[in-house]
Amino acid sequence: MRVVTLSEPDDFDGWRDAARGLIAEDVPPDEMVWQVGDEPVDLFATVAEPAPVPTPGAFSVPRAFLDLARSAILGSDPERFALLYTLLFRLRREPKLIEDRADPLVRRLDRIAKDVRRDIHKMRAFLRFREVEDGGGEEGGTRFVAWFEPDHHIVRANAAFFVNRFASMRWSILTPEVSIHWDGKALSEGPGASKADAPDGDPTEEVWKTYYASIFNPARVKIGAMLKEMPKKYWKNMPETALVPGLLAAAQARESGMIAKARDTVGGNSLIAWEALRDEAAGCTRCPLYKPATQTVFGEGPVDAPLMFVGEQPGDQEDLAGRPFVGPAGQMFDKAMAEAGVDRSRAYVTNAVKHFKFEQRGKRRIHAKPGAGEIDACRWWIEQEQMLIKPKVTVALGATAARSLFGKVMTIGRERGRALQLPDGGEAWITVHPSYLLRLPDPAQAAEEYARFVEDLRVVGGRIG
Ligand code: URA
Repeated sequence: MRVVTLSEPDDFDGWRDAARGLIAEDVPPDEMVWQVGDEPVDLFATVAEPAPVPTPGAFSVPRAFLDLARSAILGSDPERFALLYTLLFRLRREPKLIEDRADPLVRRLDRIAKDVRRDIHKMRAFLRFREVEDGGGEEGGTRFVAWFEPDHHIVRANAAFFVNRFASMRWSILTPEVSIHWDGKALSEGPGASKADAPDGDPTEEVWKTYYASIFNPARVKIGAMLKEMPKKYWKNMPETALVPGLLAAAQARESGMIAKARDTVGGNSLIAWEALRDEAAGCTRCPLYKPATQTVFGEGPVDAPLMFVGEQPGDQEDLAGRPFVGPAGQMFDKAMAEAGVDRSRAYVTNAVKHFKFEQRGKRRIHAKPGAGEIDACRWWIEQEQMLIKPKVTVALGATAARSLFGKVMTIGRERGRALQLPDGGEAWITVHPSYLLRLPDPAQAAEEYARFVEDLRVVGGRIG
């Protein structure tokens, strides 16, 4: 037996470094014990592994695995380290395994990661700060203290979100496992706490209301969804309920202002704000598409990209990989971009709708066009992305993207080939979606349309220099 001792229950780097070495040595999962601190955990109750076949040569770990591992490592399931190592070990011989949602191991880790993301979202939504006088600090000794009981090891992973949103406040978040403290400049960590350590109740209700107002998300106004999303333990006397109608009216404006402020707070480096947005979108339930989809597929690319491309919605492969434009349409897009001399790595690429809409036919998931309601529900995210990235030029790939960006139906044939103005004043262009090119049955027409598409890309590339 080999024992790896990780420093903390959320020690992703420690796990990754150890796993790398063990894979290089070809150590099979059933020879491993993973523990945190000094406490051995109960391992391998359900993990059965066939005899290993050594695989020579370099092993490149799929990005989808790393994304899964980063979330799953924060889970409370004591077997998570072993399960992840087992999956990594199998991936060497079965590189496509990560895409196999029917595989019990992949399914179990997906479930853990999903629960973690949900817990992260709940902490952001339901955490309540209370104001206390603690005598320290430059702002007259006011500190905001919150007590929270997460189900998973998410507190450190969530810290950047609270730093970003409450950068100018001094605050502490106390949890049973760890406490984190922000003094306006630096984040520090302390031991776990108990509920009795946190200030209680009524005199500070106004503070909580203020906090709630600042994080308000109208999605939560759907009472059915609220009850489903909010376990009873968070429902103790919620003073904010009375605030809902007024907040709903002003919510979009507030959220927009908050993102703009976050951008200022981080001095032009909007990466933290973008990460917070992406993490929040991971728990999006603004329309029913999240239910059958594997995950939210958020945009990707540099946060200061001068060029933004907006597609329709993730396809089957994007849904599994968690990344936009990686399937057939993405490959067509990459090819055309290269021919047009536009560097995709300088562009931010996203979709109007962030979840895959499909119809299940046997084993196949067939693309289904998003409706106006779904496009409108998802505009929430694209507007935040636009405000953070502030691209010089935005390109709508197809009618759904155009409908989302302009808030109304746009005719591609009429609007194509000229600079348009978005409602926020930004420059936008409309062209066809790469999937359209893939669907054209006549080779001569397909070649002609492809050449037009490349030309459109060349023109927009020229707009950013
Ligand atoms: N089609 C899209 O519109 N977006 C993707 O990410 C993939 C296919």
